[in-house]
Amino acid sequence: MFDTAVRTLVVPRKKPMKKYNARHAINSPIFPRHPPRHARPINLNKFLILSFIRGIISQMISKNQIFAAPMAGISDRPFRETIRDFAPGVPVVTEMISCHSLVGQHKNCLRNFDNYGDEGNVGAQIFGAVPGLMADAARILADAGAAWIDINMGCPVPKVATRAGAGAFLMRDHVLAGKIIAAVTGVVKIPVSVKTRLGWDADSMDWRELVKIAADNGASWVTLHGRTRAAGYAGAAVHPVVNNLPIPIIANGDLKNAADVQSMLGLGYAGAMIGRAMFGKPWIFGNMLGLCDEPNDVGAVVMRHLGRVIDYYGGRAGVPMFRKHLAWYSAGRANSGAFRIKINQITDVSELEQEILQFWGCV
Ligand SMILES: Cc1cc2nc3c(=O)[nH]c(=O)nc-3n(C[C@H](O)[C@H](O)[C@H](O)COP(=O)(O)O)c2cc1C
Repeated sequence: MFDTAVRTLVVPRKKPMKKYNARHAINSPIFPRHPPRHARPINLNKFLILSFIRGIISQMISKNQIFAAPMAGISDRPFRETIRDFAPGVPVVTEMISCHSLVGQHKNCLRNFDNYGDEGNVGAQIFGAVPGLMADAARILADAGAAWIDINMGCPVPKVATRAGAGAFLMRDHVLAGKIIAAVTGVVKIPVSVKTRLGWDADSMDWRELVKIAADNGASWVTLHGRTRAAGYAGAAVHPVVNNLPIPIIANGDLKNAADVQSMLGLGYAGAMIGRAMFGKPWIFGNMLGLCDEPNDVGAVVMRHLGRVIDYYGGRAGVPMFRKHLAWYSAGRANSGAFRIKINQITDVSELEQEILQFWGCV
């Protein structure tokens, strides 16, 4: 059964690592120096053993799993931890991380740079268009305890896909896509996955080709968002049958419940990734896996999530950031419109807490 398989296949937590702190990172070089790649002699036995181990780990991560999608501005550590309150060990992916910003230690990027080993089973997603920089970024994230590296080849946002030549643009340049995947798989021991879409637009649905390129260059699995770059996030996702491909495929797009996930397995997918259906419902993974129902005390979940956001970002940045989560948590409840108007004007943490407690009837 799908859900029992999922529960047994939780990747073992790594040994806790030294906590990397973004502030230290900005003032001092935190990233260990590595010898240049070309200076390292290739040891065939070591290579074969590593490939074998990587194969086993990637099976554990990708097979029969429900993933939480990488979502910029949403899937940060506080949200990932709130998901795991209900579904411990469920594989989660970070927001996309720019390889330029990470390697260049830009302040905004380091804000979310973490010790992923503490969390366990976190895939770190990177985007960029320069193979060497992508490899360096992957190495930094692997050293920080990421369980696998996910390469973004699906982001349609013009800043990423057109101006930076990264994300979805790589669906148009398969040679560069192959070089990036090879550069990343060449430097990290952990599995590498690729997240992409059906194609650039309805006239170029060449995802099968990209899957083969990913496999040829050492990727362990591909997550396939069932829309084109041109479709963005609109319209219903389409999920093609995925038999006879060299590596496992994870389904993504409009998946909302266990029945949706089950139907993806019927189409040949190895697992499923949940995106917008997790907004305001961090318990959805626990629910799908049969571990919990929707909690009666949503107010307590919201308060716990808020507490993590404030601990992580501080009140000044955390309060405005939390507004979107509050809009999702409160959607469909009585007086949610008035509640949203009110909280959008609040900047103080304790005032916000009072409003939340009042809205969910905890006072
Ligand atoms: C607000 C937002 C942020 C996103 N950020 C990322 C991202 O950082 N990396 C990525 O690969 N996809 C990103 N996506 C795409 C999602 O991971 C997912 O592929 C998409 O939402 C389709 O799944 P869904 O229909 O279940 O939402 C984002 C989507 C949204 C709506």
